[in-house]
Amino acid sequence: MSSLGKVAVLGAGNIGGSLAQRLAELDVAREVVLVDIIDGLPQGKALDLQESAPILGFATRVSGSTSLDALAGADVVVETAGLARKPGMSRSDLLGKNAAIVRGHAEAVRRYAPNAVVVVVTNPVDVMTYYFRQVSGLPAARVFGESGTLDTARFRTFVAEALHVAPRDVTGFVLGTHGDTMVPILSLTSVSGVPLAKLLPAERIAAIVERTKQGGGEIVNLLKSGSAFYAPTASQAELVTAIATDAHRLVPVAAHLAGEFGETDVCVGVPVVLGREGIERIVEIDLTAGERAAFAASVAAVRSDLEILAKGAG
Ligand code: LAC
Repeated sequence: MSSLGKVAVLGAGNIGGSLAQRLAELDVAREVVLVDIIDGLPQGKALDLQESAPILGFATRVSGSTSLDALAGADVVVETAGLARKPGMSRSDLLGKNAAIVRGHAEAVRRYAPNAVVVVVTNPVDVMTYYFRQVSGLPAARVFGESGTLDTARFRTFVAEALHVAPRDVTGFVLGTHGDTMVPILSLTSVSGVPLAKLLPAERIAAIVERTKQGGGEIVNLLKSGSAFYAPTASQAELVTAIATDAHRLVPVAAHLAGEFGETDVCVGVPVVLGREGIERIVEIDLTAGERAAFAASVAAVRSDLEILAKGAG
């Protein structure tokens, strides 16, 4: 089903390495290139992955490089580079250091891969998505952030556990920022179409919402160094596959808003339809009054980080 030529993964840490593995095994591109500044890391992980091909049967060629010109001609770029949280840190604490990394990469994408669709993963992801688009000058439809698919996966996992049902049968949406003010949309959560509110008491749902909001931090606290990567890369691989197969998937991603949901000039998690050229359209669902207020608070949190970034960069 390979329909992409090249996917470039920026950053060969836990996320980059795990994502390259998932993409190779899914065979969604002819080539996956891992790029990192630490000499030997991307090359070593790429060679190790390549040597699994005879056993696993994938055709994807996996390579590694320390040079940003390895981005040349990439159809999809996944930005995973940057620092991860340590226990006690919020995603916003990473702002300054990660912005410097993202800036260099956005300039490289403008130069080497201006036609790429870019998936931003680096935290704080809503802000980094905005910044990547601004620096790269790429169209908003082709730069979006992975967050809602991950937060929704966590939410679905906890709901499935509570109800003893198959995780895949739980559907839902977590919108807003990838942070403490994310907004699980309970009115759109169901198990094979059965509304969640009919299956679980309100206090159990409230506990699941709280756990979802702290989902990334729960893993950081367990790992103590580094943050989650298996669920994040599963979510990223789902997005890259949607692009590769032009699947028109309706998924939550951090997208640049130009009036949708009443917001302008900000990136935050909303439902979109995703295909080969990136975001085909943003789907403006009706929110309840409570959800609208929570979404507004979430956008305000992103705007406050954007202001910090603008002051730092200016
Ligand atoms: C998380 C990090 C990757 O949520 O933001 O696990």
